[in-house]
Amino acid sequence: MKKHKIEINLEVYDSVSELPQDIQKLMNKAQQAREDAYAPYSRFKVGAALQLDSGETIIGNNQENAAFPSGLCAERVAIYQAGAAYPTASVKTMAITARSLKQETTTPIPPCGACRQAIAEYEIKQESPIAIYFMGETGKVAKAASIADLLPLLFDKSYL
Ligand code: THU
Repeated sequence: MKKHKIEINLEVYDSVSELPQDIQKLMNKAQQAREDAYAPYSRFKVGAALQLDSGETIIGNNQENAAFPSGLCAERVAIYQAGAAYPTASVKTMAITARSLKQETTTPIPPCGACRQAIAEYEIKQESPIAIYFMGETGKVAKAASIADLLPLLFDKSYL
């Protein structure tokens, strides 16, 4: 038996104002998108904004459904829209923010496991890392330079 230790790397910024200017703008778009989320059941609004290498910005927000599993997270709404509308572009950066209508979210809120898997698919497809910045409503912002830092041991096409 051999033990393996996996290390991940994150950067943590004290607030949005500490981020580089272009990332602040992207996070601002994610915040705007978050407010348009359709989340009447969870009352938890999530917004995502993607910066593509072609210059476009794509946004997404969570879309819920009375049949709960039929809804979709903000991150996947955004990345599937990018894949659908700009199939040859690469996603450089993803900004994510979440706000609960029940209490203030003050810590960085990472994408769920299913969204991490979806982001991994596109990172592999485009053969370049996607930087992921995530936050709550206020407070610190965490940055992963690649999905590999959020989803070690990811499942990919090499296993098929
Ligand atoms: N949600 C997202 O949009 N992204 C995530 O990564 C986690 C969860 C949404 C799904 C659902 O509409 C609500 O947040 C509560 O889970």
